[in-house]
Amino acid sequence: MAPRRLTTLTLPAPADRRRFRARLLAWYRRHGRDLPWRKTDDPYHILVSEIMLQQTQVDRVLPKYGEWLQKYPSLAALAAAPEQEVAATWYPLGYNVRPRRLQSIAREAMANYGGQLPSDKETLLSFAGIGDYTAGAIRSFAFRERAAILDTNVARVLFRVFVDNGDPKSHATKRHLWAIANSLVPSRHVFDFNQALMDLGAMVCVARNPRCLVCPMTRSCRAFQSGGER
Ligand code: ADE
Repeated sequence: MAPRRLTTLTLPAPADRRRFRARLLAWYRRHGRDLPWRKTDDPYHILVSEIMLQQTQVDRVLPKYGEWLQKYPSLAALAAAPEQEVAATWYPLGYNVRPRRLQSIAREAMANYGGQLPSDKETLLSFAGIGDYTAGAIRSFAFRERAAILDTNVARVLFRVFVDNGDPKSHATKRHLWAIANSLVPSRHVFDFNQALMDLGAMVCVARNPRCLVCPMTRSCRAFQSGGER
């Protein structure tokens, strides 16, 4: 079946945004996952977790995250480590370009940014390995900035709740979903809000057989209201 045309490009109304935030945060306080990178706002720790989570499931990242931070507790330690050893420590996570990128970010931070990870979007995006999603994650989790995130899970949630129209994979839809994500980020609790969006996508609003009956958004979800998620 041909995808329906994207006809609604409006952003959620202020009252809808408020409701979405309140429901999401209330749900997260009861059901959110207890993950180690949610107990820190150290930019380096957040960077490590987000690079690991780019292509690897949470369960597989958990043991490696702890091991990595024991071995390389800081940007300085990672920058100074032998490359072979860094690659071996990463094993068996896969996608081996990621440890090299992580180490080159550490080296650049040591060389050009006084041993700190920068917080501004443009500089973060200039590092290989940091795209829009990871920059938003670092800014919101480590620096508590009002920055949006959009990964596959979050895109699915926002598409179902606010769009349910057009081709979910198109560039136009992606741009629209970023605009929606930006409009939703609260000025307070941005850390919890973004983590909560990820959890809702990973635990409830999953790709196949979403658990709509336990979802806090059903009453305002376009996909649910129109008779079925897509
Ligand atoms: N996937 C990417 N980032 C994540 C995070 N911070 N928590 C859970 N899953 C994630």
